[in-house]
Amino acid sequence: MPLDLTSDMDKQQEKLNRLAQPLLNWYGENRRKLPWREEVSAYRTWVSEIMLQQTRVSAVIPYFERFLSAYPTVEALADAREAQLLKLWEGLGYYSRARNLQKAAKIIAHTYHGQFPQTYEALMALPGIGDYTAGAILSIAFHQPIPAVDGNVLRVAARITGDERNVLDGKVRADFRKRMAKAMPKEHSGAFNQALMDLGATICLPNGAPVCAECPARDFCDAYATNRQKIIPVREKSTAKRAERKTVFLLRRGDAIALRQRPDSGLLARLWEYPHVDGILDESAAAAQLADWGITPHKWLKSIQFKHEFTHIRWEMVGYILEITGDGPTGWVWADRELRRQCAIPSAFEKLTRESEEQ
Ligand code: ADE
Repeated sequence: MPLDLTSDMDKQQEKLNRLAQPLLNWYGENRRKLPWREEVSAYRTWVSEIMLQQTRVSAVIPYFERFLSAYPTVEALADAREAQLLKLWEGLGYYSRARNLQKAAKIIAHTYHGQFPQTYEALMALPGIGDYTAGAILSIAFHQPIPAVDGNVLRVAARITGDERNVLDGKVRADFRKRMAKAMPKEHSGAFNQALMDLGATICLPNGAPVCAECPARDFCDAYATNRQKIIPVREKSTAKRAERKTVFLLRRGDAIALRQRPDSGLLARLWEYPHVDGILDESAAAAQLADWGITPHKWLKSIQFKHEFTHIRWEMVGYILEITGDGPTGWVWADRELRRQCAIPSAFEKLTRESEEQ
């Protein structure tokens, strides 16, 4: 028997090297029609990629269209009023993305005179742009053969190569970036990266339900051959989220609801929120808190339990919806429907808003 001197690493790379042609053929027939693909520019690619982090394509499309109408150019984004920008972002969550977009827009508009930098290093130096987004912009808008490796692409690559290392480990991710850089074609790099994104989103699905029968990589996919689609990718989180408990008050005074603005820095900086306190209060403790604020409850309409997951924190909340009189402490704003339309209220409170609207 001939001795096989090919290392496992080489074999994995070989599998990835086989991907480009069938993937591009598949993409030619199956690519999704998406607004940022109809007309391509660095600005449009950048905005869409930032919105698509942590958010599904179907949810992003209307936001992308409204955002591009409001801010058609990087200069318009640089000059945007922050309150309007955050309002346009409302519901997408992870608001630091919107703030970083504007910070980077100012640098591009002023330092780079409105022209996007076209090197990996210069893009990575901009606020909010990491290796994935830099790769997406360089490949899609500037046709440079740079990989764009996000969670979807890691899933595809780990399955094809049968790699059981933890894809949440930065070193493993860096290794996959290197392998992808070798496997990607020098031409059509934008199509290659977007094809991987589409494959990950429509065929190579997470949670054990991939549509392998329709996959262009089926003939050489290691996870498929060894029936390990449910095991790969391995995702081992290193730290648990910290839980914070809160009691949130949705206080209704006629048409108006009490809002207060969050501090200038930290989580959800400067967004508007319903008054809340730390800890879970039962009704009598909640009534005492209201009295402290100078609020008189007239009708306790509803209480709900709800939660919201941030990147590193989970808020576990009880919300009380009440009709009240009183003004509350200084700094509170009694916002009618029109004013609420202009205030960005984080998605963390959306469940409470919806419950109140049904009362
Ligand atoms: N997911 C992340 N980026 C994407 C893109 N450009 N197109 C489709 N899905 C994506």
